[in-house]
Amino acid sequence: MKILVTGAAGFIGFYVCKVLLNNGHDVVGLDNINDYYDIGLKYARLNELGVKKTDASIFKILCKSSYSSKFSFVRMHLEDREVLPELFANEKFDVVCNLAAQAGVRYSLENPESYVDSNLVGFLNILECCRHFKIKHLVYASSSSVYGLNKKIPFSTEDNVDYPISLYAATKKSNELMAHTYSHLFKIPTTGLRFFTVYGPWGRPDMAMFLFTDAILKNKPIKVFNHGNMERDFTFIDDIVEGVVRIIEKQPTERIKNNELYKLYNIGNNNSVKLLDFIKEIETNLKIEAKKDMLPMQPGDVERTWANVDALINDYNYSPNTSIKDGVKSFIDWFKVYYN
Ligand SMILES: NC(=O)c1ccc[n+]([C@@H]2O[C@H](COP(=O)([O-])OP(=O)(O)OC[C@H]3O[C@@H](n4cnc5c(N)ncnc54)[C@H](O)[C@@H]3O)[C@@H](O)[C@H]2O)c1
Repeated sequence: MKILVTGAAGFIGFYVCKVLLNNGHDVVGLDNINDYYDIGLKYARLNELGVKKTDASIFKILCKSSYSSKFSFVRMHLEDREVLPELFANEKFDVVCNLAAQAGVRYSLENPESYVDSNLVGFLNILECCRHFKIKHLVYASSSSVYGLNKKIPFSTEDNVDYPISLYAATKKSNELMAHTYSHLFKIPTTGLRFFTVYGPWGRPDMAMFLFTDAILKNKPIKVFNHGNMERDFTFIDDIVEGVVRIIEKQPTERIKNNELYKLYNIGNNNSVKLLDFIKEIETNLKIEAKKDMLPMQPGDVERTWANVDALINDYNYSPNTSIKDGVKSFIDWFKVYYN
């Protein structure tokens, strides 16, 4: 298949490209390489995919990869309504995997505009291209944050998610609604994936795993919100990517036949880990005890997440199997080498 992966310089997108290429697909990666976090890390991920920084930094030029003849990369803004259709017209994608977005809950309190630009305008442009260029399947990222302050656990896609508590979550919920509309009106098979706290090597510098490891190694205090009374369904990157790739590779023929064009799944580890246990695992690996700043809850944050992933197990034989112990070790091994 020929697949467009947006957010290809990002944490999850980078891995998805790699696995799709290893499985023999033609892949075009797209990313605007914004500076929400260290762009050095984004270029380093692209470098792993055989794309040089000098090539990747130029906008709107498709550049080749030395890693695979089946990969090319283009730096582009999703919200660029003029250029995105040109890319679709030239490349004739079968499947689109939209992972590009302005991520992060806390940043959406400071910079709401970037969420509207990337996650709403950008996503609309993706939908419009899927519509006009007859894309066979759109797979896109949603988020566990749509569950807001829901108390019933584990979270199920059957639960009501009408009460987001951050603009980030509101844009992700909006994506699901927009996808539903396009599936209904234009018969586009769409699959939304609510990711649950993804971690692992090449992970995001704005997320807990990275922030904690970095601070502990620098002998600085770590910020522990809600006085540590938090739980997360931490999901290791390999488990996430395996799920995403399975969904991309399964043609939605049955779904079209059964008129199930719109689908939504949780993709998590199906387990909730206490934040303090997660920190303990990092401390054990680093052999350093963290200095902890116990702080109140941050606005927009939720206390607990836990994914019910039964539907993904049933439909795609999804089987997340990386323990926190192995996952944390894998991240820290990478961190020590990457940051010397
Ligand atoms: N990592 C997680 O734990 C997690 C949890 C829930 C949901 N998600 C979602 O999964 C997706 C991937 O997340 P990630 O962790 O890899 O984040 P990431 O920030 O590492 O990757 C996103 C990439 O998209 C690019 N991008 C942002 N806006 C763009 C735009 N307008 N045009 C083109 N490129 C743009 C960024 O430069 C970045 O490289 C996102 O949609 C995110 O909201 C992630």
